[in-house]
Amino acid sequence: MENKIIDGKSISSQIKAEVKTETDKLKSEKGITPGLAFILVGENPASKVYVKSKGKACEELGFHSVTETLPENVSEEVLLELISKFNDDEKIHGILTQLPLPAHLNQQRVIESLNYKKDVDGFHPLNAGRMVLGEKCFIPCTPYGIVELLKRSNAETEGKNVVVIGRSNIVGKPVANLLMTTKFNSTVTVCHSKTKNIKDISSRADILIAAIGKANFVTKDFIKEGCVIIDVGINRIEDKTKKNGFRMVGDVDFEDCFDKCGKITPVPGGVGPMTIAMLMKNTLDSAKGLIYE
Ligand code: GUN
Repeated sequence: MENKIIDGKSISSQIKAEVKTETDKLKSEKGITPGLAFILVGENPASKVYVKSKGKACEELGFHSVTETLPENVSEEVLLELISKFNDDEKIHGILTQLPLPAHLNQQRVIESLNYKKDVDGFHPLNAGRMVLGEKCFIPCTPYGIVELLKRSNAETEGKNVVVIGRSNIVGKPVANLLMTTKFNSTVTVCHSKTKNIKDISSRADILIAAIGKANFVTKDFIKEGCVIIDVGINRIEDKTKKNGFRMVGDVDFEDCFDKCGKITPVPGGVGPMTIAMLMKNTLDSAKGLIYE
């Protein structure tokens, strides 16, 4: 029997190995090294961990990478100047400003200051709009990771009822739009904090994507027998049996849903590692000139 658990760790390793092979080829044949710039503002501990992991992936795959750390109280002007410098740097094919930014900075203005041709996060309105239209663009890394998980675990999307719980700009909205395109042909419903009868809606899902940031929110009474569950949540809950006093869980109650579902992603080791793998893939494709000339 095929494994019920969708192993994001192993699938992401496979993708990174593919990216590494193509990177070696791009370097030897064209003399181009994919380059990625990270901008980290302030002291958010989770952001520091994420940027460190992304930098490590660059090292593993032989990418050129630069990390610029700015103080919490940096002015927007200084941040925009740094982005402008990377926009013009020929060695840099991707720029990633780690979000969230401190509250005094206008996040949308910062995103829109990026050269959309280096927007490997896929957050610039031009890339977001092109994705909705089904045009070539950078696809945001977590939604891209989700569709790769589905593809590589043989979960059909065409004609399937997909329910997305959560409407964030980083996950919910883009993954819903992506699955609606003619590449995936799903019938998509989006639920959010004001949705009535979420259980009735989610119980009709062939594929359920949970991205709300609420620990163990989805239980077996939310799901249809045999459905595919993609859990995007990463929540810290108290656990006195652990040395550090906590453990990470998703938005889905894994144990409760396991027997009833057809396939499920674990937390950790599901969607999380895919986000980094797809960032590497986007940066490689940028360096190759595959997305924009
Ligand atoms: N913060 C949480 N996820 C992401 C991401 O994918 N990209 C950036 N830039 N910031 C994030």
